[in-house]
Amino acid sequence: MNRLLVTGASGFLGWNICTVTSKTWKVFGTAFSTPATIPNVNIVNVDLTDFRALKRLFHDVRPDAVIHAAAAANPNFCQTHRTESYKINVDTSFNIAGLCADGNIPCVFVSTDLVFDGLNPPYRETDPVCPVNVYGEQKVSAEEKIRKSFPRTVVCRMPLMFGHSGTTSTSFLQPMLRAMRKGRELHLFTDEFRTPISAKTAVSGLLLALRKTPDILHLGGNERISRYDFGRLVAGVFRIENAKLTPCREKDIVMAAPRPPDVSLDNSKASRLGFSPLPLEKELQELKDFPDICL
Ligand SMILES: NC(=O)c1ccc[n+]([C@@H]2O[C@H](COP(=O)([O-])OP(=O)(O)OC[C@H]3O[C@@H](n4cnc5c(N)ncnc54)[C@H](OP(=O)(O)O)[C@@H]3O)[C@@H](O)[C@H]2O)c1
Repeated sequence: MNRLLVTGASGFLGWNICTVTSKTWKVFGTAFSTPATIPNVNIVNVDLTDFRALKRLFHDVRPDAVIHAAAAANPNFCQTHRTESYKINVDTSFNIAGLCADGNIPCVFVSTDLVFDGLNPPYRETDPVCPVNVYGEQKVSAEEKIRKSFPRTVVCRMPLMFGHSGTTSTSFLQPMLRAMRKGRELHLFTDEFRTPISAKTAVSGLLLALRKTPDILHLGGNERISRYDFGRLVAGVFRIENAKLTPCREKDIVMAAPRPPDVSLDNSKASRLGFSPLPLEKELQELKDFPDICL
């Protein structure tokens, strides 16, 4: 079995990557501050910002491929903790690319749709980047440094993702469902658009990227939707009649990090390679029976 190193296994996306790939790879997943256990996955506890520990990790695991999903992934946190988040989002990503270059190890770097300012959607891989917050700036720096250090690295720009997750993390869907079921009022943007996908679809796209090695890949879904309409869709699919959804606009809510209005991704390049997200309604229906979703 080939050996796959997945960083960020204790996080939402990393957990999903590990769970899917453990059927066909010998998987090593990293955790740092959150203890994690995933069946058939070797969890390694490591601070990836510690270069010596990172080097040891590569030496011990001897990966045949790497998916680098670990990050400070909350834009508001990055905005207020610029130096701390730079270390994991930029320095660590650059170091991982360097170690992959040393061993000529195929590598996928998980980036974001927030590298764009949201004024000219839908975005193709060839469009110029123009982030509006620190998180987006850090992902842009990481992308540039990685691609210079090891051009074989595939940069996958992910949209908003939702889905089933382990005990250590969740997507935004679980708290949204909890609030809806309790009848708590949810303020959702009518003027913020994304092309969301489920984690399951995201993993299929990342594995496609690992196989086909394009330079940059946009793994957006097929539907452009506002946060508010997504909330309505969720309430409908999960039949939550007492959901209290209040439409609001971005300017109504103060947040540390500015948010781009519409970072919809054009997924034509990925589609040509075989990426095929299901309709959102179907993606949500598929999640209905998972314990962490139906609670
Ligand atoms: N979720 C989305 O909708 C979305 C959208 C676009 C792009 N992305 C990108 O997708 C990737 C995964 O996001 P996510 O939502 O799964 O994030 P997440 O749930 O917040 O998980 C982040 C992971 O990074 C790890 N990490 C952070 N600092 C670390 C350090 N110093 N050393 C080792 N590990 C460290 C965390 O480990 P511990 O918890 O154990 O400390 C955790 O496993 C990120 O690159 C993110 O930028 C996510």
